[in-house]
Amino acid sequence: MMIIAGNFKTNHTRSSTLSYAKGLNQFLRDRQFGAEVYLFPPMSALAYDDFSHFSIGAQNAYPVCGGAYTGEIGLDQLNELQIKTLMIGHSERRVLLGESDQICQRKFEFFAHHGMNIFLCVGESLEVRQAQKVREFLALQLSGIDLSYARLIVAYEPIWAIGTGVSASLIEIQETHAILKDLGCSRVVYGGSVNPQNAREIMSLDGVDGVLVGGASLRLESFCEIIENGEMK
Ligand code: 13P
Repeated sequence: MMIIAGNFKTNHTRSSTLSYAKGLNQFLRDRQFGAEVYLFPPMSALAYDDFSHFSIGAQNAYPVCGGAYTGEIGLDQLNELQIKTLMIGHSERRVLLGESDQICQRKFEFFAHHGMNIFLCVGESLEVRQAQKVREFLALQLSGIDLSYARLIVAYEPIWAIGTGVSASLIEIQETHAILKDLGCSRVVYGGSVNPQNAREIMSLDGVDGVLVGGASLRLESFCEIIENGEMK
């Protein structure tokens, strides 16, 4: 079953997320899609009704139950909202907020210990790719992560393909997913300028277990088209 996830980043409000989520739930219920669908809205939109046909995830959390960590949320807050899915290590957090491999490992350890579904984002910069150091770089990002954790989904998101409108080529995606599988990742989704036009080809590649979609998930119609494209596997 394909994994199809939408990452709203810092887009949409609580009220627009709610109407989107109702529409998405209805779409999935009416069409009975055989896909595993996730939505990562902004923090302020995390709390709303229970939607039975897809899962809501948090884009970030701090590896504690609670305490003095201004601006963060922890396990207690996620549990109250029945959030069971967490994204860790998105490149925007790594680059803009200085999130290191070490903090990503700590987050993974803590939230895996508490049984959460984890999307761990990895991906290289253009410099790393041009220097032909992709395998070494990804291996480093994965070091200290228990890749046998059953609820782990690795999201391969090359930084140079995020939000640029130019996804990695099919060959680059296939080769890099093969590297990640070889390193021991069992479920690997691709992210980086996925849209309704390229989603089907990307999802039909060997080693691609789904997609993580940013910009093209913001409109419900476009996200639903991507979900339809993931049906064939
Ligand atoms: P875009 O689909 O906008 O390139 O973003 C990808 C992404 O960062 C998803 O997490």
